Amino acid sequence: AAQFFGPKLLAGLSLLLTAGPTREAIDPVRYISNHSSGKMGFAIASAAAEMGAAVTLVTGPVNLPTPANVSRINVESAQQMLDAVMPEVEKHQIFIGCAAVADYKIADIADCKIKKSAAEMQLALVRNPDILATVASHEKRPFTVGFAAETNDVEQYAKGKLARKKLDMIAANDVSNSDIGFNSDQNALSVFWQDGATHFPAVNKQILAKQLLTLIAEKVKT
Ligand code: CTP
Ligand code: CA
Repeated sequence: AAQFFGPKLLAGLSLLLTAGPTREAIDPVRYISNHSSGKMGFAIASAAAEMGAAVTLVTGPVNLPTPANVSRINVESAQQMLDAVMPEVEKHQIFIGCAAVADYKIADIADCKIKKSAAEMQLALVRNPDILATVASHEKRPFTVGFAAETNDVEQYAKGKLARKKLDMIAANDVSNSDIGFNSDQNALSVFWQDGATHFPAVNKQILAKQLLTLIAEKVKT
């Protein structure tokens, strides 16, 4: 196959990435989460390993097999994801945040199953740490790439995140189109960096992963 003869664009580089949703416990039997399938992150992990990178994948709960030659760390909550990522940061030249990290967690996780009582109840939430921004502000930061899931004003919000989180690159997908993104096998990405941008039209996530990694390899090496 072509891949055996093609250049291993990521040879000698090591990549750390997050994937999947996080789960924020409410009590011992309940949690808050989201519909992330983990497919995009796993496709990137798989493609990066094929392209010669040493790959560490920190993932929330997903129903996907571990790609060949990828070392996988399973976590549940955003805090656990951060705790798994930070000791790895200095060992990697590239970080890609693909996970759909819950923005909020439960303020006080109940020790016992919450019993129903009144007709209404409220859950108090507090902000989770921002894993991507924490990696990007590390003193020995890797080349740091974020994802942005947006339903509207994609370019404006994505560029805002690029600047605010001090990223090297951001890949934005429009999640208002349910044929692509989140649970789909296909995705399209608009990619922005400090002085440039490109658009990858909708294709299979495996192909898209290779396109994105080829672009990242170019930027990391220059
Ligand atoms: N991210 C993260 N930790 C968080 C929240 C987000 O690492 N606590 C990362 C995601 O993995 C993604 C990027 O930040 O790479 C953008 O996530 P997104 O949800 O689009 O942006 P937020 O900064 O959370 O802003 P908002 O949800 O308000 O749009
Ligand atoms: Ca968010």
